[in-house]
Amino acid sequence: MGKPRVKVGKILFTRQEIDTRLDELAAEIQQHYRRGELTVVAVLKGSLIFTADLVRRLDLPIRMDILEMSSYHDDTSPVGEPELSSYVVRDVHSRHVLVMDDIVDTGATLAGVLEILRREGPRSLATCVFLNKTPRRKKKVNIDFCGFELNTSKFVVGYGLDYAQRYRNLPYLAELVEPRKVAKKATRRRSTKKRAVTQKRSRRKKASSSKKRTSGRRKTRKKPPSSRRGKA
Ligand code: IMP
Ligand code: MG
Repeated sequence: MGKPRVKVGKILFTRQEIDTRLDELAAEIQQHYRRGELTVVAVLKGSLIFTADLVRRLDLPIRMDILEMSSYHDDTSPVGEPELSSYVVRDVHSRHVLVMDDIVDTGATLAGVLEILRREGPRSLATCVFLNKTPRRKKKVNIDFCGFELNTSKFVVGYGLDYAQRYRNLPYLAELVEPRKVAKKATRRRSTKKRAVTQKRSRRKKASSSKKRTSGRRKTRKKPPSSRRGKA
């Protein structure tokens, strides 16, 4: 299997920063639901790590359901409408439901999930997302609890988020250096190297030709002036 030509770039949130924010977020959720029973619906696969870390911070009676939606198909932009690929939802009807997702980008995935869950007749339906990436928003979705705001449309990986199913296990969140940019950088590096070699070659050529010229001149000077005089 070929590896995707991408690189993990700048770290946006370290493991420690994520931990600290999760403590705060858990406190907000705890305060909101007090001691009521809660059904957490994790939207897989992206929210797997976020959900696991967050629910362990909640001192509430919790049920857990899962569903899987995907729309990226190994790309960095959504390819078509989000598709529901698995649905293991049992405890939603007449219950307080909290949907957990990794990131809201265009909003299409979370809007789709909420539409499906609303049909199950929950008592209340709230959302909690690890990241709110605002610049490409198309569908208006209500976000009740949010880990971090992202004002960039750059693709990010780590802490559950993937590119072509890789990087989910990174303990931090980082930018992804996309294939085109990696390719451009590599080409730039190659052409810089090529230029350096060409410059070195032409410098050497110049040096050797000027040497020849100098030695040639010397030869002329070495000719005994008498011979020239003799000819004249
Ligand atoms: P949306 O439907 O455009 O809001 O996209 C939501 C889904 O796309 C998320 O649940 C993620 O699985 C995925 N996604 C969006 N942006 C990123 C990103 O920057 N990195 C990784 N996955 C992303
Ligand atoms: Mg997702």
